Amino acid sequence: ATAEKAGYDHFMLKEIYEQPKAYRDTLEGRLFPRYPWTYLPELSLTPERLKQFRNVHLVACGTAYHAGLVGKMAIERWARLPAEADVASEYRYRSPLASPETLVIVVSQSGETADTLAALREAKRRGAHTLAVTNVVGSTAAREADDVLFTRAGPEISVASTKAYTTQLLVLYVLALHLARVRGTLPDAEIEPVVRALGELPEQAESVLQQAGEIRGYAQEIASREHLFFLGRGLDFAVALEGSLKLKEISYIHSEAYAAGELKHGTLALIEEGTPIVALATQPELMSKTASNVREAMARGADVLGIVGAGSPSLSERQLTLPDTHPALMPAIAVVPLQLFAYYAAVARGYDVDKPRNLAKSVTVE
Ligand code: G6P
Repeated sequence: ATAEKAGYDHFMLKEIYEQPKAYRDTLEGRLFPRYPWTYLPELSLTPERLKQFRNVHLVACGTAYHAGLVGKMAIERWARLPAEADVASEYRYRSPLASPETLVIVVSQSGETADTLAALREAKRRGAHTLAVTNVVGSTAAREADDVLFTRAGPEISVASTKAYTTQLLVLYVLALHLARVRGTLPDAEIEPVVRALGELPEQAESVLQQAGEIRGYAQEIASREHLFFLGRGLDFAVALEGSLKLKEISYIHSEAYAAGELKHGTLALIEEGTPIVALATQPELMSKTASNVREAMARGADVLGIVGAGSPSLSERQLTLPDTHPALMPAIAVVPLQLFAYYAAVARGYDVDKPRNLAKSVTVE
């Protein structure tokens, strides 16, 4: 088993470190440095059909749902299509407004999650065009959806998902750009920097991994705590949700992700001397707002680890600066320290990271 883990103590750590390679594999052949920018020959959707869509639903569970939240923002921002992200176990029961003019994207590492498959079937029943974003060739989702884009992350063994999530982000980014290009909603001058930045992500993920020592130090410090908060706005909130889920899954520390601006509407009551907060501020236009929410929490005694983009104002005494990328792509690098943080917190507490209690890699019951 040690050989399978290639010298790493756990599959999770190995898979975290495999991300730069997984990013390269996922993007391979799907991007061009000039028009037409994106190349997704596996899609059956013609440009005419792509132009007919009126709305997009992204449906998934767990970590894949968190990727869907980022996909929603990219599709709305770039392709100017109303997009919604739903957890699959809720989607079916709200009589979703899916029609033949709806693109329903199911996101699933395994392609076997029962709730996600049920949502896929519900979408088909309503006549929507279905597209699976999955890691497993030959999976049920891959076979049943009208179209499929594979994430090419390689096998993911750890129950806590890492490289599957980040490669889902990458596929959704490429798909959003593809939709934008075909629909003519984003000028070439705006597509070009995103395409270039996508190509730089593998190296940037590599450089974040080199900061593992610092993250480990902070994780060890908070390992004995019973609860903490993750804060962020916009895309940072989506990443905060994933960071919080990771920590809960494997360290069993209770945590909550909060939209930074909502803090003052209730949760601030829980902040006391020493309450740990991981605050994300990677979005230039939201940074000062998040910083002021963080200051409010610090004034109540919060102990803050800031995760900030290059050029952001200082958020807290202790902070990690991420490599500079296109703001829309920040989740693909900002999540990496949070994965390491959850991992090292769980190790410090002495848990078997690869086999968290009560959880399964793929949940095949509704
Ligand atoms: C389980 C796993 C999660 C995963 C979720 C969805 O709960 O423990 O890590 O995110 O299922 O799985 P899927 O294979 O559909 O992405």
